[in-house]
Amino acid sequence: MTYQNILVDGSGAVRTLVVNRPAKLNALDRATLLEIRAAMTAAVADASIGAMVVTGAETGKKPSFVAGADIAAMKAMSAVELREFAALGQSTFDLVEQAPFPVIAAVNGFALGGGCELSMACHIRLASEHALFGQPEINLGIIPGFAGSQRLPRIVGRSKALEMLLGGDPIKADEALRIGLVSTVLPAAELLPKAMELAAKFAAKAPVARRYILDCVVRGASMPFADAQRVEADLFGLVGSTEDVRAGLGAFLDRTTAVWQGR
Ligand code: COA
Repeated sequence: MTYQNILVDGSGAVRTLVVNRPAKLNALDRATLLEIRAAMTAAVADASIGAMVVTGAETGKKPSFVAGADIAAMKAMSAVELREFAALGQSTFDLVEQAPFPVIAAVNGFALGGGCELSMACHIRLASEHALFGQPEINLGIIPGFAGSQRLPRIVGRSKALEMLLGGDPIKADEALRIGLVSTVLPAAELLPKAMELAAKFAAKAPVARRYILDCVVRGASMPFADAQRVEADLFGLVGSTEDVRAGLGAFLDRTTAVWQGR
């Protein structure tokens, strides 16, 4: 499938999804969200994918991951259209978060509003030294619409989240690292190679275990603790029925390397 506003690359176990509207600092309009949704739907159905990297296209002097939802497009929307736009962004980012493979955000610049929200739907966030994170909606008189009010406090805690949401000021990469919004900060030139290296590492692991770990962490986060533990125990049992468990345990005891079948 060909897209206008995103690039999907890679044919092996690692895919890259690049938001590609450089003239608008990769801002998300409806068409771009629909393309991300289509690409994620296709990726989720492709059992050969073991990991994905999401990043922003080159934008020249001021690098951008995604500079937010498209402000010009939102200005022209009715209340009903705004509501539908928010629901589209939310369901699209849910697809990212619920993907059966790890999704790594390589945040190469501005991650503002919808950009911060997209990065937070990814499972792991790496940032370049130039990255800037924020939820500046309040400066426009609006509120986050792609689940920023929900994911940000869950990641950084309510106090820091409210400071960012109510104050509207962006934070730099080192601050994002300090508060746990990102796991690593790297020089710009090392960002994508590191994200690809991590993706390849994840993609080479036992596929069923990889899926179940994501399932436990992502689904478990929205469940009562006892129920989430039950899911973990159930999946622990289920993974025990796979050929990969026998291969993995056997390889450890034989001091060989397991070859994963994904079943
Ligand atoms: N929606 C639509 N267009 C956007 C955009 C957004 N969120 N962010 C940037 N753009 C567009 C600008 O309108 C400009 O387009 P133009 O050249 O056709 O006028 C182009 O991208 C470059 O942006 P510009 O503002 O000139 O770049 P800058 O380097 O001076 O500033 C930012 C960069 C990111 C600080 C600034 O663009 C900005 O504040 N963007 C909005 C961030 C935001 O509030 N996001 C949340 C939205 S809910």
